[in-house]
Amino acid sequence: YPVDNHPFPVGHLSSHIRLKERLATGKFGCVYIGEDAETDQRVAVKVFPPQERGSWLVEQELYSLPEMSHPNILCFIGADQCGQGPDLRLWLVTEYHPLGSAHDYLAGHTVSWIQLLDLAESLSRGLAFLHESSSEKPAIAHRDIKSRNVLIRSDLSCCIADLGLAKKFFQGESIGDVHPQVGTRRYMSPEVLEGAMSFYKDSFLRVDVYSLGLVLWEMLTRCTDAYGAEGVPAYRLPCRPVAQSSRSWRQAPCRQYLRQYWQSRGTAKLAEYSLITSGLSYLRETICCCWDHVPEARLTAACVAERCKALRRLPVS
Ligand code: ADE
Repeated sequence: YPVDNHPFPVGHLSSHIRLKERLATGKFGCVYIGEDAETDQRVAVKVFPPQERGSWLVEQELYSLPEMSHPNILCFIGADQCGQGPDLRLWLVTEYHPLGSAHDYLAGHTVSWIQLLDLAESLSRGLAFLHESSSEKPAIAHRDIKSRNVLIRSDLSCCIADLGLAKKFFQGESIGDVHPQVGTRRYMSPEVLEGAMSFYKDSFLRVDVYSLGLVLWEMLTRCTDAYGAEGVPAYRLPCRPVAQSSRSWRQAPCRQYLRQYWQSRGTAKLAEYSLITSGLSYLRETICCCWDHVPEARLTAACVAERCKALRRLPVS
């Protein structure tokens, strides 16, 4: 470090930006609001301790890949380091979004049907963009999609954050050494939990789509148009809190719980989804196709985004 082609010399960002309140504590460090001393512009600063140098390097490398800018991926400003020895701190500076993460936003707000479609389509577009490859950009599996890693912009579109666990796949290159069981247990697909994942690019992308389905479910369960007079339930994470042991997780996979949830709400069983007449039933069916137990049966993120777009033409219910 400094990495070739890095836009700022070492110390440039950290000497201009003052850290303010803490926004979040993550696996690899804390995120703060940072303020540029000259312009008062606010940014978000993820601060890694020296032992997390590997994650800091991975994340900035991914953000710095050519063609990585997209409206639904968190905008990277730069990386920096300050302090020395055990006091060394590694900074990753990105755009700041005052509405915070999808997790925080949904816990505090309900959303209309149109707002839900804006959230769902933009999130799926961001993931589809990560997954897609071009001559310049490798396909990227995020590997930790969850509502805390999705940020809400002021126009209620989403951007995907936290690329610290992401894995890139260059065409024709072997997958290499990769630990399959990373991410957040609550959002892990059955094949990851069971250690039964195959080591192909598409397998990694399908694991992301499973987690995408769970985040879409979190969004849908806060939609006023989905609940009518009964009222929208309080925000919940997508699984029962059964995480005491890995055994209990295997016995109570999210999918089973969620499917019971649809049924208990008097909605159609999966097999009865053939007649799609309303936006809500099409969105539920789409979500179920994301968390299918069989990875090959899941939709792609690009297909989920196209479905969300098509949903705008259907009546809500
Ligand atoms: N929490 C984590 N990263 C953030 C960001 N960039 N903006 C707002 N809240 C955040």
